[in-house]
Amino acid sequence: MTIRTLLPAILQAVMKGLPVALGDRHYPRWHLAPVTGLMNDPNGFIHFQGRYHLFYQWNALGCQHQHKCWGHWSSADLTHWRHEPLALMPDEEYDRSGCYSGSAVDDNGRLTLCYTGNVKFDDGTRTAWQCLAVQNADGGFDKLGPVMPLPGGYTGHVRDPKVWRHGDRWYMVLGAQDLALQGKVLLLRSDNLWNWENLGEIAGSTLGGLGEAGYMWECPDLFMLDGKAILICCPQGVTREEKRYLNTYPSAYLCGDLDYDKPEFRHGPLVELDAGFEFYAPQTTLADDGRRLLIGWMGVPDGEEMLQPTVAQGWIHQMTCPRELTLRDGKLCQQPARELAALRGEEQRLEGVAATLPSLAAESLELVLEAQGEVTLDFADTLRLEWTRDGLRLARRSLACSEWMHRYWQGDARRLHILCDRSSVEIFINDGEGVMSSRYFPAAGAKLGFEGDAQLRLRYWSLRACMVE
Ligand code: FRU
Repeated sequence: MTIRTLLPAILQAVMKGLPVALGDRHYPRWHLAPVTGLMNDPNGFIHFQGRYHLFYQWNALGCQHQHKCWGHWSSADLTHWRHEPLALMPDEEYDRSGCYSGSAVDDNGRLTLCYTGNVKFDDGTRTAWQCLAVQNADGGFDKLGPVMPLPGGYTGHVRDPKVWRHGDRWYMVLGAQDLALQGKVLLLRSDNLWNWENLGEIAGSTLGGLGEAGYMWECPDLFMLDGKAILICCPQGVTREEKRYLNTYPSAYLCGDLDYDKPEFRHGPLVELDAGFEFYAPQTTLADDGRRLLIGWMGVPDGEEMLQPTVAQGWIHQMTCPRELTLRDGKLCQQPARELAALRGEEQRLEGVAATLPSLAAESLELVLEAQGEVTLDFADTLRLEWTRDGLRLARRSLACSEWMHRYWQGDARRLHILCDRSSVEIFINDGEGVMSSRYFPAAGAKLGFEGDAQLRLRYWSLRACMVE
């Protein structure tokens, strides 16, 4: 589509679709979601001149993975968001098959986007350009065009630039597939965001002691935390195990030490970032106060996504809540951003044998639980969380065949912190040592029931809606 046809079509889709999506009982009350159509990866997450900016992969025209634009929200406090002008549309030759994922930087006071222009050809092949766009006085973005073609030695699957400043230079990590069809992450360097030098591969399948670990690594993000370098990535094609790597594609991280000049990244094992049914393509940024914040997509491509019932209401997917990252004993821990406490109503408490406790309205609920013994949490007969001595097992029926499917977190789960929002739950285990993020679609308003003879102690809050203005 050209800009002349795309923009009117997007406007019409929003006018028609917005009231339907917002009226859907599965539409989140306080998580970010598309006002119509399909949303996937968070993009360009940045704190810039006093506000957070969060962009997102968006197809306003329908629930398929097509016509990817960059939508744009901003917020001063991570709870009240505002719609900003549509940032990018696929209206140039070099991004005609989609303005794919990327990041934002503060280039001398100018909010600058680095994204992938994806180009698909009729014979099924593709190419990719790394591109720049800069914010204009109206809050929209002017494209500056491609700054980098495909690097030699890789297929057309090279994308998702994450750019940051280190010392007096710019650095970029890029997701890539090499000619042997192995997933890799490349490190690049630039003085000016325009001319990039490819320093080489810093991680990937068959590198750094990993063995075969996927045919494509998407959405890399590299940052320092507590003196360690953390590389987040989405390796596609990792072998499924009995209790790990059960989603179509996982999101994972490596923790280690980075030598920028060689370059060399010495790291430990690949660790899954979230053990739930839906989590992918997270992106991080630095808050003013030094916290490392993460937002992920509460969805996974190529699985059962298109069977989600919201598709019939013209919208699909939502973001996770914003999370704070810390490193504890070499483990990346995630906790809900402290700003979310502003959504809480009055604190309530309950204590007693699980099966004797009343069920709670779980449409918009936060709870902190401690248990002695085994207990099952039942979310509207649709999602079940079994909490035993071995850890957690989350059960949900397949949308395709109705069979129960399971996800696992193994370990001693001492404390759970759970956030519920109509059709999603985020379960934080032991102050963020593990997380399970999942969507679920209850037939009626969500209720949370407790089963089992465990002694349960809980504190809970109902959460206020948080509209996007
Ligand atoms: C991850 C991803 C990215 C790509 C974008 C396209 O979900 O496939 O690699 O840039 O989505 O929407």
